[in-house]
Amino acid sequence: MTTKWVIANWKMNHLRAEASAFCEAFRADYKARPGVEAGIAPSFPLLPGVISQTETTGAKVFGQNAHWEPKGAFTGAVSMAQLKDAGCHGVILGHSERRQFFNETDDSLVKKLQAAWEFDLLPVLCIGETLTQRDAGFTLDVLRQQLSVLERTGHGPLVVAYEPVWAIGTGRRADATQIEEVHAFIREDLWLTFGDAGREIPILYGGSVTPDNFEEILRIPHVAGGLVGGASLEAGKFLRLLKQAQESN
Ligand code: 13P
Repeated sequence: MTTKWVIANWKMNHLRAEASAFCEAFRADYKARPGVEAGIAPSFPLLPGVISQTETTGAKVFGQNAHWEPKGAFTGAVSMAQLKDAGCHGVILGHSERRQFFNETDDSLVKKLQAAWEFDLLPVLCIGETLTQRDAGFTLDVLRQQLSVLERTGHGPLVVAYEPVWAIGTGRRADATQIEEVHAFIREDLWLTFGDAGREIPILYGGSVTPDNFEEILRIPHVAGGLVGGASLEAGKFLRLLKQAQESN
């Protein structure tokens, strides 16, 4: 049985009251089972509330980004040390929205991955191609390039999330053939970089995942769950995704 992950990436959504209502509903319904990990990645101000409200459920809370320096004069930034201190389990890194809107680079990701491991946080490294890149036939080259940061970081616990940029928030998910091809490619790449340890790294799919398509996605080889945006904002849908992950094992 491979462990399946369902990680809710709330992005810049929810105020405290909404987050609190989500956590109440989640806590009332969620039954943790072996083989499935629930993750929630709220924005920074919501972290303390979500962490304290979900403490008893076994859900793991993630930051959506962090700086590589542990502290200092970096106005507006949050450090890995601060995420750890707040009670986070891990951190999402390299999300396409950070690459696209905040100039995230491969060089910064090398430093962020190393800093995450230094502070005992599990990084979820996001990779994915744009539609222009896919249409030009460059998908695997782009992913290879994005994965190459792992040749410069050393080694630590890791989750990889394949999120085709054109499938994020569009309602147009990648089809089973596309996901299967890319996940097999990522698995091979991780094996080439890390040897046998590369076989154990969970590879999640993200991009317009909903309870209507998740069962099919979970059946695709090398898919260890989902990184979910829009459908993760409602507790009911998040709970359904988790149930589907539990039933897929
Ligand atoms: P959607 O599920 O809203 O397409 O977002 C996916 C995503 O970016 C998760 O990180």
